[in-house]
Amino acid sequence: MSSSFHALAALLLLSFFIASMADFSKDVDITWGDQRAVVTNNGQQLSLSLDKTSGSGFQSKQEFLFGRFDMKIKLVPGNSAGTVTAYYLSSQGPLHDEIDMEFLGNLSGQPYTLHTNVYAQGKGNREQQFHLWFDPTADFHTYSILWNPQQIMFYVDGALIRVFRNHESSGVPYPSKQAMRIYSSLWDAEDWATQGGRVKTDWTKAPFTASFRDVSFNGCVWTGSSSSCGPSTSGWMNQAAVTSDLQKMQWVQKNYMIYNYCNDAQRFPQGLPTECSLS
Ligand SMILES: *[C@@H]1O[C@H](CO)[C@@H](O)[C@H](O)[C@H]1NC(C)=O
Repeated sequence: MSSSFHALAALLLLSFFIASMADFSKDVDITWGDQRAVVTNNGQQLSLSLDKTSGSGFQSKQEFLFGRFDMKIKLVPGNSAGTVTAYYLSSQGPLHDEIDMEFLGNLSGQPYTLHTNVYAQGKGNREQQFHLWFDPTADFHTYSILWNPQQIMFYVDGALIRVFRNHESSGVPYPSKQAMRIYSSLWDAEDWATQGGRVKTDWTKAPFTASFRDVSFNGCVWTGSSSSCGPSTSGWMNQAAVTSDLQKMQWVQKNYMIYNYCNDAQRFPQGLPTECSLS
Protein backbone atom coordinates (compact mmCIF):
# COMPACT_ATOMS: atom_id res chain seq x y z
CA MET A 1 0.00 0.00 0.00
CA SER A 2 2.56 2.53 1.06
CA SER A 3 5.06 1.49 -1.61
CA SER A 4 2.45 1.67 -4.34
CA PHE A 5 1.45 5.04 -2.93
CA HIS A 6 5.05 6.17 -3.21
CA ALA A 7 5.24 4.84 -6.74
CA LEU A 8 2.11 6.77 -7.62
CA ALA A 9 3.44 9.93 -5.98
CA ALA A 10 6.70 9.55 -7.90
CA LEU A 11 4.80 9.09 -11.13
CA LEU A 12 2.69 12.16 -10.50
CA LEU A 13 5.78 14.19 -9.69
CA LEU A 14 7.47 12.93 -12.83
CA SER A 15 4.48 13.80 -14.98
CA PHE A 16 4.43 17.24 -13.39
CA PHE A 17 8.06 17.83 -14.37
CA ILE A 18 7.48 16.51 -17.85
CA ALA A 19 4.41 18.70 -18.19
CA SER A 20 6.34 21.80 -17.21
CA MET A 21 9.08 21.03 -19.75
CA ALA A 22 8.51 23.00 -22.92
CA ASP A 23 8.40 21.36 -26.31
CA PHE A 24 10.25 23.46 -28.88
CA SER A 25 8.02 22.28 -31.69
CA LYS A 26 4.88 23.45 -29.86
CA ASP A 27 5.85 26.18 -27.43
CA VAL A 28 8.12 28.45 -29.46
CA ASP A 29 8.08 30.17 -32.84
CA ILE A 30 11.20 30.40 -34.97
CA THR A 31 11.26 34.11 -35.67
CA TRP A 32 14.22 34.50 -37.98
CA GLY A 33 17.06 32.69 -39.70
CA ASP A 34 14.89 30.16 -41.62
CA GLN A 35 16.63 26.79 -41.75
CA ARG A 36 19.37 28.04 -39.39
CA ALA A 37 17.05 27.17 -36.47
CA VAL A 38 16.48 23.43 -36.22
CA VAL A 39 14.30 21.52 -33.76
CA THR A 40 15.35 17.91 -33.05
CA ASN A 41 14.79 15.07 -30.54
CA ASN A 42 10.98 15.25 -30.63
CA GLY A 43 10.95 18.91 -29.75
CA GLN A 44 13.37 18.56 -26.84
CA GLN A 45 16.34 20.24 -28.51
CA LEU A 46 16.84 23.24 -30.72
CA SER A 47 19.95 24.56 -32.39
CA LEU A 48 20.56 28.04 -33.71
CA SER A 49 23.24 28.93 -36.18
CA LEU A 50 24.89 32.02 -37.51
CA ASP A 51 26.63 32.58 -40.81
CA LYS A 52 27.72 35.66 -42.68
CA THR A 53 24.21 36.18 -44.11
CA SER A 54 22.13 35.81 -40.97
CA GLY A 55 21.77 34.68 -37.41
CA SER A 56 18.66 32.99 -36.07
CA GLY A 57 16.27 33.10 -33.17
CA PHE A 58 13.09 31.93 -31.52
CA GLN A 59 10.53 33.23 -29.05
CA SER A 60 7.98 31.68 -26.72
CA LYS A 61 4.44 31.58 -28.05
CA GLN A 62 3.09 32.66 -24.69
CA GLU A 63 3.62 35.84 -22.75
CA PHE A 64 4.14 35.73 -19.01
CA LEU A 65 3.71 38.09 -16.11
CA PHE A 66 6.22 36.68 -13.59
CA GLY A 67 7.67 33.21 -13.66
CA ARG A 68 10.68 30.99 -13.49
CA PHE A 69 12.36 30.21 -16.81
CA ASP A 70 15.12 27.63 -17.17
CA MET A 71 17.09 26.85 -20.28
CA LYS A 72 20.00 24.48 -20.83
CA ILE A 73 22.44 25.96 -23.32
CA LYS A 74 25.63 24.72 -24.92
CA LEU A 75 27.43 27.70 -26.38
CA VAL A 76 29.33 28.11 -29.67
CA PRO A 77 32.63 26.25 -29.24
CA GLY A 78 36.11 27.19 -30.45
CA ASN A 79 36.62 30.67 -31.78
CA SER A 80 33.29 32.31 -30.96
CA ALA A 81 34.63 35.87 -30.98
CA GLY A 82 32.08 38.39 -32.24
CA THR A 83 29.09 36.10 -31.62
CA VAL A 84 26.39 36.75 -29.07
CA THR A 85 24.01 34.09 -27.80
CA ALA A 86 21.13 35.81 -26.09
CA TYR A 87 18.50 34.52 -23.69
CA TYR A 88 16.12 37.18 -22.43
CA LEU A 89 12.62 38.19 -21.49
CA SER A 90 11.11 41.26 -23.08
CA SER A 91 7.82 43.10 -23.36
CA GLN A 92 6.78 45.11 -26.41
CA GLY A 93 6.60 48.83 -27.04
CA PRO A 94 8.80 51.86 -26.45
CA LEU A 95 8.77 51.79 -22.63
CA HIS A 96 9.54 48.11 -22.55
CA ASP A 97 10.79 45.92 -19.74
CA GLU A 98 13.57 43.42 -20.37
CA ILE A 99 15.65 40.92 -18.38
CA ASP A 100 18.82 39.83 -20.18
CA MET A 101 21.39 37.10 -20.15
CA GLU A 102 23.74 37.45 -23.10
CA PHE A 103 26.79 35.31 -23.74
CA LEU A 104 29.57 37.18 -25.49
CA GLY A 105 31.92 34.86 -27.40
CA ASN A 106 35.69 34.95 -27.32
CA LEU A 107 38.81 33.57 -28.95
CA SER A 108 39.51 29.87 -28.33
CA GLY A 109 40.69 29.39 -24.78
CA GLN A 110 39.52 32.84 -23.67
CA PRO A 111 36.52 33.11 -21.37
CA TYR A 112 32.99 33.89 -22.46
CA THR A 113 31.41 36.89 -20.78
CA LEU A 114 27.90 36.54 -19.35
CA HIS A 115 26.31 39.96 -19.63
CA THR A 116 23.19 40.64 -17.52
CA ASN A 117 20.91 43.65 -17.54
CA VAL A 118 17.47 44.76 -16.35
CA TYR A 119 15.35 47.29 -18.22
CA ALA A 120 12.28 48.83 -16.64
CA GLN A 121 10.02 51.16 -18.59
CA GLY A 122 12.52 51.50 -21.42
CA LYS A 123 15.57 52.21 -19.30
CA GLY A 124 18.43 49.76 -18.78
CA ASN A 125 22.01 50.70 -17.84
CA ARG A 126 22.06 48.13 -15.05
CA GLU A 127 24.74 45.80 -16.34
CA GLN A 128 26.63 43.20 -14.40
CA GLN A 129 29.07 40.95 -16.24
CA PHE A 130 30.62 37.66 -15.23
CA HIS A 131 33.07 35.07 -16.38
CA LEU A 132 31.98 31.47 -15.77
CA TRP A 133 33.65 28.86 -13.56
CA PHE A 134 33.42 26.18 -16.28
CA ASP A 135 33.74 25.88 -20.03
CA PRO A 136 30.20 26.68 -21.28
CA THR A 137 30.94 25.14 -24.69
CA ALA A 138 31.90 21.67 -23.45
CA ASP A 139 28.43 20.74 -22.22
CA PHE A 140 24.94 22.00 -21.49
CA HIS A 141 24.51 24.20 -18.41
CA THR A 142 21.33 25.59 -16.90
CA TYR A 143 20.67 29.32 -17.02
CA SER A 144 17.64 30.55 -15.13
CA ILE A 145 15.71 33.74 -14.65
CA LEU A 146 13.30 33.94 -11.73
CA TRP A 147 11.05 36.99 -11.87
CA ASN A 148 8.49 37.65 -9.18
CA PRO A 149 6.97 40.83 -7.71
CA GLN A 150 9.72 41.14 -5.08
CA GLN A 151 12.87 40.51 -7.12
CA ILE A 152 14.58 39.18 -10.21
CA MET A 153 17.14 36.45 -9.63
CA PHE A 154 19.67 35.13 -12.16
CA TYR A 155 21.07 31.63 -11.70
CA VAL A 156 23.79 29.57 -13.36
CA ASP A 157 23.50 25.82 -12.67
CA GLY A 158 21.34 26.68 -9.67
CA ALA A 159 23.87 29.12 -8.24
CA LEU A 160 22.49 32.60 -7.69
CA ILE A 161 24.69 35.14 -9.44
CA ARG A 162 22.60 38.32 -9.26
CA VAL A 163 19.54 39.75 -7.53
CA PHE A 164 17.68 42.85 -8.66
CA ARG A 165 15.18 43.82 -5.98
CA ASN A 166 11.94 45.69 -6.37
CA HIS A 167 12.61 49.19 -5.02
CA GLU A 168 9.55 50.82 -6.56
CA SER A 169 8.75 52.25 -3.13
CA SER A 170 12.03 54.23 -3.41
CA GLY A 171 11.15 55.40 -6.92
CA VAL A 172 13.19 52.81 -8.85
CA PRO A 173 11.23 51.44 -11.82
CA TYR A 174 10.69 47.67 -11.68
CA PRO A 175 9.25 45.33 -14.32
CA SER A 176 5.92 44.48 -12.76
CA LYS A 177 3.15 45.49 -15.13
CA GLN A 178 4.11 44.36 -18.62
CA ALA A 179 3.94 40.74 -19.76
CA MET A 180 7.08 39.40 -21.41
CA ARG A 181 8.02 36.69 -23.89
CA ILE A 182 11.13 34.54 -23.71
CA TYR A 183 13.54 35.11 -26.58
CA SER A 184 16.72 33.44 -27.71
CA SER A 185 18.98 34.28 -30.57
CA LEU A 186 22.45 33.84 -32.00
CA TRP A 187 23.78 36.84 -33.88
CA ASP A 188 26.88 38.75 -34.86
CA ALA A 189 28.03 41.72 -32.80
CA GLU A 190 31.68 41.94 -33.79
CA ASP A 191 31.57 45.72 -33.39
CA TRP A 192 31.47 45.49 -29.62
CA ALA A 193 31.07 41.98 -28.24
CA THR A 194 34.57 40.64 -27.86
CA GLN A 195 37.27 42.49 -25.99
CA GLY A 196 35.44 45.72 -26.63
CA GLY A 197 35.15 45.07 -30.38
CA ARG A 198 38.89 44.65 -30.98
CA VAL A 199 38.46 40.98 -31.92
CA LYS A 200 36.23 40.41 -34.97
CA THR A 201 34.26 37.38 -36.08
CA ASP A 202 36.31 34.81 -38.01
CA TRP A 203 33.86 33.91 -40.78
CA THR A 204 36.08 31.07 -42.02
CA LYS A 205 34.78 29.24 -38.90
CA ALA A 206 31.09 29.77 -39.81
CA PRO A 207 28.47 28.48 -39.37
CA PHE A 208 28.53 28.97 -35.61
CA THR A 209 26.05 26.87 -33.63
CA ALA A 210 24.58 26.99 -30.12
CA SER A 211 22.18 24.34 -28.76
CA PHE A 212 19.27 24.57 -26.35
CA ARG A 213 17.38 21.91 -24.46
CA ASP A 214 15.32 21.13 -21.34
CA VAL A 215 13.56 24.42 -21.46
CA SER A 216 10.92 25.04 -18.87
CA PHE A 217 8.65 28.04 -18.75
CA ASN A 218 6.84 28.12 -15.41
CA GLY A 219 5.03 31.39 -15.35
CA CYS A 220 1.75 33.16 -15.09
CA VAL A 221 0.45 33.09 -18.64
CA TRP A 222 -0.81 36.44 -19.85
CA THR A 223 -4.05 36.29 -21.80
CA GLY A 224 -4.11 39.92 -22.90
CA SER A 225 -6.06 41.27 -19.96
CA SER A 226 -5.21 39.03 -17.03
CA SER A 227 -2.81 36.28 -16.11
CA SER A 228 -3.34 32.71 -15.06
CA CYS A 229 -0.69 31.19 -12.88
CA GLY A 230 -1.38 27.45 -12.79
CA PRO A 231 -0.39 24.97 -10.10
CA SER A 232 3.40 25.40 -10.26
CA THR A 233 3.38 28.99 -8.99
CA SER A 234 4.11 28.46 -5.35
CA GLY A 235 7.78 27.59 -5.76
CA TRP A 236 8.88 30.81 -7.34
CA MET A 237 6.18 33.39 -6.77
CA ASN A 238 7.27 34.13 -3.22
CA GLN A 239 10.83 32.89 -3.49
CA ALA A 240 13.48 35.05 -1.90
CA ALA A 241 17.20 34.40 -1.68
CA VAL A 242 18.09 32.42 1.43
CA THR A 243 21.43 32.70 3.21
CA SER A 244 23.05 29.86 1.30
CA ASP A 245 22.02 31.46 -2.02
CA LEU A 246 23.49 34.78 -0.93
CA GLN A 247 26.72 33.13 0.20
CA LYS A 248 27.07 31.44 -3.17
CA MET A 249 26.33 34.74 -4.89
CA GLN A 250 29.01 36.46 -2.85
CA TRP A 251 31.51 33.82 -3.93
CA VAL A 252 30.54 34.21 -7.59
CA GLN A 253 30.61 38.00 -7.46
CA LYS A 254 33.93 38.08 -5.65
CA ASN A 255 35.65 35.67 -8.03
CA TYR A 256 33.85 35.98 -11.36
CA MET A 257 32.16 39.36 -11.64
CA ILE A 258 34.10 41.54 -14.08
CA TYR A 259 31.77 44.54 -14.27
CA ASN A 260 29.15 46.06 -11.98
CA TYR A 261 27.39 49.30 -12.93
CA CYS A 262 27.07 50.09 -9.25
CA ASN A 263 30.87 50.34 -9.02
CA ASP A 264 31.19 52.58 -12.07
CA ALA A 265 30.99 56.07 -10.56
CA GLN A 266 32.68 57.59 -13.62
CA ARG A 267 29.80 56.57 -15.80
CA PHE A 268 27.25 58.25 -13.55
CA PRO A 269 28.62 61.72 -12.81
CA GLN A 270 25.25 62.75 -11.30
CA GLY A 271 25.57 59.90 -8.81
CA LEU A 272 25.05 56.17 -8.88
CA PRO A 273 21.53 54.87 -9.57
CA THR A 274 19.33 54.86 -6.45
CA GLU A 275 19.15 51.06 -6.13
CA CYS A 276 22.94 50.86 -5.77
CA SER A 277 22.74 52.19 -2.23
CA LEU A 278 19.75 50.06 -1.22
CA SER A 279 20.11 46.48 -0.06
C1 LIG B 1 37.66 37.54 -23.59
O1 LIG B 1 38.94 37.29 -23.04
C2 LIG B 1 39.56 38.43 -22.47
C3 LIG B 1 40.96 38.05 -22.06
O2 LIG B 1 40.96 36.94 -21.19
C4 LIG B 1 38.70 38.93 -21.30
O3 LIG B 1 39.26 40.11 -20.77
C5 LIG B 1 37.29 39.22 -21.77
O4 LIG B 1 36.46 39.55 -20.65
C6 LIG B 1 36.70 37.99 -22.45
N1 LIG B 1 35.35 38.17 -22.92
C7 LIG B 1 34.99 38.99 -23.91
C8 LIG B 1 33.58 38.92 -24.32
O5 LIG B 1 35.73 39.76 -24.48
